[in-house]
Amino acid sequence: MRTDTGQIVHLADYRPTDFVLERVDLTFELDPTNTKVEARLIFHRREGVDASLPLVLDGDELKLSGLLFDQKEMPANQYDATPESLTIRDLPAESPFELTITTYINPEANTQLMGLYRTNGVYCTQCEAEGFRRITYFPDRPDVLAPYTITIIGDKTANPVMLSNGNFLGGAGYDEGRSFAAWFDPHPKPAYLFALVAGDLGVIEDTFETMSGREVTLKIYVEHGKEPRAAYAMDALKRSMKWDEEHFGREYDLNIFQIVAVSDFNMGAMENKGLNVFNDKYVLADPETATDQDYANIERIIAHEYFHNWTGNRITCRDWFQLCLKEGLTVYRDQEFSSDMRSRPVKRIADVRHLKSDQFPEDGGPLAHPPRPDSYREINNFYTMTIYEKGAEITGMIATILGRDNFRKGMDLYFERHDGQAVTVEDYVKCFEDASGRDLSQFFRWYVQAGTPLVSASGAYDGAAGTFTLSLEQTTPATPGQPNKEPLHIPLSFALILDNGQIAEPKSVTGGEVTGDVLHLTERSQSFTFSGVSSRPVLSLNRSFSAPVNLAFEQSPEDLVHIARHDSDLFSRWQALTDLAMPNLTQAARDARDGKDVSCDPAFVAALLECAGDASLEPAFRAQALNLPSEADIARALGGNNDPDAIHAGRKAVHEAIAKAGEEIFVRLYNEMKVEGAYSPEAEDAGKRSLRGVALSYLMYAENSPQRAAEAFAAADNMTDLAQSLTLLAHRFPDVSEATAALASFLTRFDGNPLVIDKWFSIQATIPGVDALERVKALMENPRYNAGNPNRVRSLVGTFAFGNPTGFNRADGKGYDFLADQILAIDPKNPQLAARLLTSMRSWRSLEPVRAEKARLALSKIAKASNLSTDVGDIVERMLKD
Ligand code: ARG
Ligand code: ZN
Repeated sequence: MRTDTGQIVHLADYRPTDFVLERVDLTFELDPTNTKVEARLIFHRREGVDASLPLVLDGDELKLSGLLFDQKEMPANQYDATPESLTIRDLPAESPFELTITTYINPEANTQLMGLYRTNGVYCTQCEAEGFRRITYFPDRPDVLAPYTITIIGDKTANPVMLSNGNFLGGAGYDEGRSFAAWFDPHPKPAYLFALVAGDLGVIEDTFETMSGREVTLKIYVEHGKEPRAAYAMDALKRSMKWDEEHFGREYDLNIFQIVAVSDFNMGAMENKGLNVFNDKYVLADPETATDQDYANIERIIAHEYFHNWTGNRITCRDWFQLCLKEGLTVYRDQEFSSDMRSRPVKRIADVRHLKSDQFPEDGGPLAHPPRPDSYREINNFYTMTIYEKGAEITGMIATILGRDNFRKGMDLYFERHDGQAVTVEDYVKCFEDASGRDLSQFFRWYVQAGTPLVSASGAYDGAAGTFTLSLEQTTPATPGQPNKEPLHIPLSFALILDNGQIAEPKSVTGGEVTGDVLHLTERSQSFTFSGVSSRPVLSLNRSFSAPVNLAFEQSPEDLVHIARHDSDLFSRWQALTDLAMPNLTQAARDARDGKDVSCDPAFVAALLECAGDASLEPAFRAQALNLPSEADIARALGGNNDPDAIHAGRKAVHEAIAKAGEEIFVRLYNEMKVEGAYSPEAEDAGKRSLRGVALSYLMYAENSPQRAAEAFAAADNMTDLAQSLTLLAHRFPDVSEATAALASFLTRFDGNPLVIDKWFSIQATIPGVDALERVKALMENPRYNAGNPNRVRSLVGTFAFGNPTGFNRADGKGYDFLADQILAIDPKNPQLAARLLTSMRSWRSLEPVRAEKARLALSKIAKASNLSTDVGDIVERMLKD
């Protein structure tokens, strides 16, 4: 394990390599515990580089067992090998040379799941960000691009499937008992996109005809017997390929595209060139075992990894500081894809909820960092919500500022100008400037400034003059290492909604730039005056969440109701209902803490129920509106000194008030939203199921009985309905026999299907209340739990820490102690997984003082442990920094 103290890497220190890598030729002789890797690398010294400089290659836990220079043994005095590096001196000044490096590695012992490892008897790799250096000594950085030839030699019976990147060259018997397969990837790529998979796997196959008429073979590999569950992923892949042609003009570029699903994987999936490797959770689905959400996730992640072929692979990152160049852009692209496949406003609402509940806390806490950081200790800790989701928001804002056509022109220019290169965020933004003629230099601050900006707004209508004046002010709070912030270019979509629901079209505007329905806030404070406004308008601001900011805008409940009724932007209607809900929820939390009765503003309840019963609104939208802000959202709105029990109790009381007032509507929805006929994962049916599920949830508050959920559980003929009813039963009535019986029957029915048992773990790990910890501990003793498998750990320990605010934050601090012990136990085996779990405590400072102190003690215990990985060490140190 790497226990180096983790040196800090600075963006400012970037310089190109001294040696240029021309070609890579790798031969693997597979063995579960002793795989031989022979790497033949052709280099030449970069022009102008001092001939005395050595070549330094990266390693991680490696042992050199052979080194040839142009096929001859390298003299021992010409090189130094340590587990972390190979330094070679006296290399030619100009002419190319070939190094042949031999290492032996142990895939079976690789519990970090970085480099070459084994999962359920299958060889598999994960090389992003720095895993390739665990396979062989290499210039392991994203700006070193070369074509790869791969030969895999392995036991014939154990490895009927042997895959790598690119096109298949050939394969046959190799020697007695072994066969070989050879692959060639002509597209120069960095090592992080290398992949190898070998083992005995089942496959489904299809084809796709590209826009220029080429036929591409598509294959998805899964464990034998699971082939039918890969059909939806295949369908999503074909739709992704088509969509990228139609929307971005991007055609696939090899004659084969392969996906492999594995059961041990640290992340969601990986975009290796031509050979994506997936966490099986994001490939396998059928109606009996996957929820609507699982289907949507599969569609999204299949698209995401496929889209990386152009945004990430053909054009990659110069260095890891540029990670959001590929991740933010690719998330933007997958969001657009899902919006086109499903309902755009509902997708936007879901994405914004996710951004606010997970990225905003990150950006407002000790782990805040800019989308383009300028230093890091452990790059694996930067696969964050900020890099991905805020990164996507930034590209979305570029699209908003430029408009659709210029955005597309900028993307086209990016592909044309930088194909085959490893580039920076500056290069990317320059393409949009050049294509549109618009100066984006102020806008660029979004990439380098951390923190969620706060935009304060106030509006004034002057009836006599027929003008509406909007005064705006922006501030961005200080974040670690960034005490002072510059004003940003914030594009705010807006509408002035008149009494009759029509949108005003002002004659003119002064005070700043407005393009179409977008107002450009560029100063710290700025006033826009609109003229020709005939009656007092209601301002709808930051429509569609055009900028990822917090908005402080005192709007009366009447105005919010007006927006909730009339805005043509559905997102804003949802936002208005949320804005109506929030003061009720925060007040309810305060009342619950003070032992007072909780009351609810009838105007809010009426508006919500009006929306619930409005048949002209799509069911998925109504479900989103009825899903009140989460406990984490309320905590954020309260801003500090938080008591998770009070927040939970207050939120529950608000639910009860809504449930009582709307019982009739909920009964009607529950009956009307029942989906008849065969299950389809498509948005329309999924929307009905989600609205029916929310209705059931309210009815359980109104009826205060497990009865209806127990019936729904018994009647369910798909996993969505089943998991929904089981969750409600277990969360609301954990101790009644209906709940325990349902949990037991679920287990019996799905035993042997680990991905479904993960749901069983998660549902129980998120049962609110102080007992959750004992429940989680007991489940860890269950033979179906496996502390070495990331999906198991995340579904039990992860959902407990991230998704059970009252259980995890119990006042005696035992939740934190438990997590600390888990982290210390997992860290030596899988530091990435441990570090990720630890981020569940990122908002510890906003807890009330008693809990905050307990959290601090648990974090200190982690910090003081010996042999911490760089991953955990880096996170815990940042979390404790004042
Ligand atoms: N590039 C992958 C994706 O976004 C994620 C890989 C993350 N790997 C890591 N070791 N952190 O799809
Ligand atoms: Zn990605």
